[in-house]
Order: sequence, then structure tokens, then C-alpha cells
Amino acid sequence: MGDLTEQTATDVVLEELTRGGSPRMKEIMTSLITHLHGFVREVELTEQEWMEGIRFLEETGEKIPGEFILLSDNLGVSVLLDLMNHRKPKGATENNMQGPFHQEGSPERAMSSRIFEDDDADPLFWSGQVRAPDGTPIAGALLDIWQTASNANYQLVDDRQPEHNFRGKYRSGADGRYAFETVCPVSYPIPTVGSVGKLLKAIGRPEIRPAHVHFKVSADGFEPLTTMIFTKGDPHLGKDPVFGVRESLIIDVAKHDTDEGDRKAPFYTAEFDFVMEPAA
Ligand code: BEZ
Ligand code: FE
Repeated sequence: MGDLTEQTATDVVLEELTRGGSPRMKEIMTSLITHLHGFVREVELTEQEWMEGIRFLEETGEKIPGEFILLSDNLGVSVLLDLMNHRKPKGATENNMQGPFHQEGSPERAMSSRIFEDDDADPLFWSGQVRAPDGTPIAGALLDIWQTASNANYQLVDDRQPEHNFRGKYRSGADGRYAFETVCPVSYPIPTVGSVGKLLKAIGRPEIRPAHVHFKVSADGFEPLTTMIFTKGDPHLGKDPVFGVRESLIIDVAKHDTDEGDRKAPFYTAEFDFVMEPAA
């Protein structure tokens, strides 16, 4: 081990990584230490600031489950990982983060049926098609869908909502089409009761996510797709705290002010087609 000075500190620490462990671990730790030392040098970090950072991380791990993931989301790491790990061919629907509110075991619901048990908002009739990149409809695709109620809460964290409210699984028909009845998704704040909330406040970042509906779509012979669809006109679209918004995932929601068949006005309609990536 060489004599350690401010100038040689990084090299001395990196040299220690030659002692063992897997090549991949060595690659990751070398980069992590190089960037961490670079950061400390670049901002001339004080000991007091470092201790504040450590206390922040301790608090992040202490009380609220999922707070570290929320930190990753808010630092844009989750979205970067998602983009790097789900590169899609041109024309295929873009992937997106799952977020913390998905639940296993949502009920299978019939085509066109309601995804909710309880909500007073005007109905939104949502439909579309699941297809391959060459346009072939995909029959029997499974769409696992979840969103907030019109009170801006997911059922998972809202005791006032009945079980399974605003979550359900639908299957595409022989023509690849799927449909369900919901209400317009609304914007909602990410959880801010923990350390991440304090950090957002400290750096003046917004906490409201633009309205969206989450989907996990799976079909034999295709890569599973997790994504979320946003609605045009939402004032929060340009400042999503977790960086999920993509142009290709924003759709129009049309308002209808006159009755159409058994659809009583006012009601809304929306369309989104999923283009699945063939399995590798
Ligand atoms: C969500 O869309 O459900 C979500 C994603 C990341 C952080 C918080 C919420
Ligand atoms: Fe969400």
C-alpha cells in the first residue's frame, strides 16, 4: 500500500480492489469509488456535509419500507435503469417503471367490464389493441391494469376503498382488442412523509406525478411489457418527480357531452394500442 495523501487517496483505495472477488464486482466497485471520490473532490465536501448525507441515508433506511426505491426514482436512477434494460425496437411500445403500487393477485375481469367497485366520477371507456410489430393482432394477451381512484389514492394504501378497487386483469380478444371501464386517472403526490420528501423540499422539486394508468402486458412469444399511459393536458406532465413521462405514452382523452347508446353523458373515451416486442 503506497503512502496516502490527498492526491493519491483514490489510487491507493482502488489498488486494494485487486485482492479478490469477481471481475464484475471489481468493475462496479472501481467505478463507484472513482465517482464517489470525484464527487467529494469536486464539491470540496466538508465533514459536516458528509455526516448530514450519512444521517439522511440512515433515516431513509429506518422507518418507511420502499424509501430507498423512492430515492432511486427521484434521482432518476430507476428510469435510467429501466431505459437501459428494456431497449425496445422502433415501433414497439416503450417500457416504464412499475412503481410501488402494483399488487399481485388482481382479479380477472370480463372484457369491457368496470375495473372498480366504487367511485362516483364520470366513466372513462378505455380500449385498444395488442399487436405484434408487423400489425398482427395478439389474441389472449393478459393486461394487468392499476390506477388511482378519483380521490388520488391507490387502493393499496387507502383503507376506504374496497378490495381490488381500480385493479384488474383483462384478456385481449381474437382481434387483439381489449376494453375496460374506468374513471379518468388523476395526478397525485408521491409519498413525502419520509426522508425523500424532505430532500424534494430542500431542493425545490415538485412532488406531484401527472395522471396515468399502469399496465403490465404479457403474451406468449413476446417480451413482457410494463408501462404507464399519461393523459394529454395534465399540467404536471413536464415535471414528473420520477421522470416517467415519454411522448409516445401520452394519449388524448375525449369528453362526450351527449348520450351515445347506453353511454350516458358526460363520459370520456380513450384509446391506446400496445405493440409488443417479440421474445429474444
Ligand atoms: C407510480 O406511478 O405509481 C410511482 C412510481 C414511482 C414512484 C412513486 C409512484
Ligand atoms: Fe402510479
